[in-house]
Formats: sequence, C-alpha cells, structure tokens
Amino acid sequence: MKEILQELEQRRGRARLGGGEARIEAQHALGKLTARERIEVLLDEGSFEEYGMYVEHRATDFGMAERKIAGDGVVTGWGTVEGRPVYVFAKDFTVFGGSLSEAHAEKICKIQDMALKAGVPIIGLYDAGGARIQEGVAALGGYAEVFQRNVLASGVIPQISVIMGPCAGGDVYSPAMTDFIFMVRGTSYMFVTGPDVVKTVTNETVTPEELGGSVVHTTRSAIADGAYDNDVEALLEIRRLVGFLPLSNRDSAPERPTLDPAQRREMSLDRLIPDSAHKPYDIKELIAMVADDGDFFEIQRDFARNIVTGFGRIEGSTVGFVANQPMVLAGVLDSDASRKAARFVRFCDCFNIPIVTFVDVPGFLPGTAQEYGGLIKHGAKLLFAYAEATVPKITVITRKAYGGAYDVMASKHLRGDVNYAWPSAQIAVMGAKGAVEIIYRKEAGDADRIAERTKEYEARFMSPFVAAERGYIDEVIMPHATRARVARALKLLRRKQLANPWKKHDNIPL
Ligand code: HXC
Repeated sequence: MKEILQELEQRRGRARLGGGEARIEAQHALGKLTARERIEVLLDEGSFEEYGMYVEHRATDFGMAERKIAGDGVVTGWGTVEGRPVYVFAKDFTVFGGSLSEAHAEKICKIQDMALKAGVPIIGLYDAGGARIQEGVAALGGYAEVFQRNVLASGVIPQISVIMGPCAGGDVYSPAMTDFIFMVRGTSYMFVTGPDVVKTVTNETVTPEELGGSVVHTTRSAIADGAYDNDVEALLEIRRLVGFLPLSNRDSAPERPTLDPAQRREMSLDRLIPDSAHKPYDIKELIAMVADDGDFFEIQRDFARNIVTGFGRIEGSTVGFVANQPMVLAGVLDSDASRKAARFVRFCDCFNIPIVTFVDVPGFLPGTAQEYGGLIKHGAKLLFAYAEATVPKITVITRKAYGGAYDVMASKHLRGDVNYAWPSAQIAVMGAKGAVEIIYRKEAGDADRIAERTKEYEARFMSPFVAAERGYIDEVIMPHATRARVARALKLLRRKQLANPWKKHDNIPL
C-alpha cells in the first residue's frame, strides 16, 4: 500500500511541475505566476480540489506521441471564495503554451457542465495560444464545444475571464462570451490573430501591446472590463467581484452584514450640485456616499467615462449602479455609453441584482460621427435593456433629464419602480436655450425677448414639479436623504414580482 501511495504522490508531483522548472522560471521572469499559483491566490486557502490532473492528449502527429504532460495544459477544479463555491480552470502556459487540445477541451467542458448543473460561477484564467496547432480540427472542435457551453451558461451562472498572458484565437473568443473580462497590464494581450499574421495579411507592423494590450481593450475596444497591475492584484480583485455576485440566476444577490446605517444622512450632498447648470460635479461622489461604506466595484472604468457602471451594496445587499457622469462630456449619452450601460443593466437583470440609476443627462450626443456610427441602434440597446429588466429599478434624477435620454434612463414609463428627483432636477425635452431658439425662431433677432422667453421656459419646465404633477416622479427628495430613501425603496421591493410575456428570447438591437 505504501508504494501505491508513494506512486500517487510522485504522479501528483510530476503533474504539478507542468512544463518543467525552466518554463516555470521563464513564467516568473516575466512577472507572471503559474496556473496553480494563480488558483492559490484566487481561492480560499486549501479549498482547491483538482479534477483531471492526469489527463493527457491523444495526438500522435508531429512527434506528439512522445510529448505528453499530465494535465495537458489546463488545471481544472473547484474551491471557495470567502466560503462560497466557484469552479475554476487555469491555462498552463508552460505546457504547449496553454494551447487547447481535444483532451484539454474535454477538461474545461467537464467543469463547465458541473458548474451549470450545480448553479455555481465559473472563472477562467487565460494564458494561452489558442488551438493546439498539432491537433488541427480536433482542437477546433474542442473550442466549439467550450463555446457552446459558454452560451448555454450565459445568464444562468456568472462567467468571469481573466486574461493573464498572450491570448489568441479560441482563447479570446471563449472569454468574449463570458460576463466579464479582466486583464493584467503589461503581460496580457488579446487578439484573434497575432502581430506576425497581421504583418503578413495587412502589412501593418504592430506590437502585441498596440494590437491587443490592456490599454487598447479597456479604453478603445471595450472588450475588457478592467485591468490590474499584476497577477496578484487581478486575482484579489476578482475575489472582491465574486463577493458581489449571486451564485446563479436561481439565487438572490448575496448579503453582507454592514455597520453602515441605512438611514445615514449625507449633508454634503445638499451642496453637490453646483449653482451653474453648466458646471460639472463628480457623480462617483454620490455613489460613494450612497453605497455601504463607500465600497464600489467599477465595471469599464476607462471606457465611455460619461457613464459610470458598477456594483455596490445597500444595507448589505448587492445593487448595480448606473450613473451619468457630468464630469465627462457633460454626461451625454453616446453610442459607447449606451452599449456599456446596456450590457451592465442586462447582467444585473439576469442575476437578480436591483438597479439604482442616477440621472444627470443633457440628451443624446448629436453629430454625424454618432449618427454614422449607429447611435440610433446603440441608444436603443440601453432603452431596450432598461425596458425589459424586471429587477427592482430605483431612479434618482439629480439634475438634467432631457429628451429621449430622460425616457431611457430607467424612467417611470419603462417600469421604474420608484422614481425620485432632487429639487435641482430639470426634466424637459431639451435645455431652455435650445427650446426657445426653436419655438420662438421668429423672435431670434430680439435678444431681450429671447432672454425673457428663456426665463419663462426655465420657470415652467426646468424643475422636477411638472413631471411630479403628472406622477412621473414619485417624490422630490432632499439630496442628503438619498441613501435612506433608496434603502427603504429597495427593502420594499425585495419581493417584487414582474414577468415579461413568454418568448423564446427577445431580439435586442445588437
Ligand atoms: C501549439 C503552441 C501554440 C499553439 C504556442 N505554442 N501556441 N503550441 N499550439 N497554438 C507553444 C510554442 O510552440 C512554444 O513551445 C510555447 O508554446 C511558448 O510559445 P512562444 O511562441 O515561445 O511564446 P511567446 O513568444 O510568448 O508567444 C505566445 C503566442 C505565440 C503569442 C501565443 O506562441 C503564438 O502566436 N501562438 C500561436 C497563436 C495562434 O495562432 N493560435 C491558433 C489560433 S486559431 P516550446 O516548446 O517552444 O516552448 C484558434 C482557433 C479557434 O485558436 C477558433 C476560434 C473561433
């Protein structure tokens, strides 16, 4: 028996070495952890149970029969994050560059299936070069099996991808179908085809960083939801994110007891809105003051900064915050902001996370660049997302809510459950100046008359009361009471029930 146990330990030891000491050192020299080290940081200490440690590929071409490594380039299993279960797979770059063989794909599919059945999130740590070139179509088939499971799991269990090395081909398509993608600055890249192929096909010369580094994907393509300085920071932040998410769509968002009183009044909020309607202020200050302990996990911080999205808690329960940001482009809605917020709203709705929306929006951004870029369709995404969402929706209009953007931002008409406005709110078709220029065009030459008309328009429409008179606003609240009011509303809505008509699925304007 002793020998059998010893053999098990030896086999385990060999598998843990992956591609060997030299490749592990090369990984460390680049500032990267190995697959197993990453899992250790991600999960609660000692909680990881590995599956499929001895799986080997079955390829024979190109001398592969003699090159077998236990585990075949991916470490799979499950463990806990703050005591709650998650499934995890981590690509091992030291083994054939983490590339995906048929057997490697089967390991991932197995835990995807387990996660879906158990109703538990799945986290993929990527550091891999795509399909295993030596295996050809068997690897392509393997990827498609993984993709199919990504799609079936979408909206059922949270799927999170962390890009921690150079990733190409299927190792970017699978993450693209998950809920969130995070990257590590300076060591991770995502591209469908790498710089060499780009050079051959388009004759462009680009570095990996220029083609698919974290700056590109967090600021321009919006493929990634955030980036961190190193592996450890990224993994610790993923632990934080998991703490906000329910295990599956069958569960409610988790609760974390807090000492932060729900009734906390923030008198400084009464001074947040500047005297001039043209002056910006930072909407993140409001989020920080409303959320428990100011704790806010921002999603897509560096993209479309004119809208802010992310998770916080109120009275211990997770909420999704969506807020126009007056500091950037006056908080206008453009195509990028609409796409960003629409995806976030849909995630919250999939996973029973109430949505708290702070509105200060001068409208949709005019211009040919936006119109040619499909603003109508992108704007409609956000409208569609809010309108279809059945989770509790609390809206607070702090200042401007103009035009179509008023409708879009979780208005009463889109089944907003509780719609508040601050006394500084201005709800109108457009700003007073623009409105007067159109309806009093004939008086355009008379500056005094126009000034008078503008004042008249402001007095009539630039307040929350016209909307409140119609019942579009449920209550005009004091800014300092915002947290207390929102907390009360959320408590009231805990048992909210609302269902959309049966359908196979909707046809959101993609
Ligand atoms: C087999 C691979 C591999 C692959 C890397 N390796 N990618 N082996 N199949 N796809 C191996 C290398 O041979 C090398 O082995 C080791 O991994 C490390 O690779 P390096 O090239 O030395 O590392 P680096 O310079 O850091 O470059 C990493 C890389 C590059 C950018 C990922 O290796 C690369 O471009 N690989 C190919 C990417 C690709 O085109 N994949 C196919 C995509 S198609 P040794 O033994 O020398 O250490 C695809 C289809 C899916 O995925 C369908 C999607 C819809």
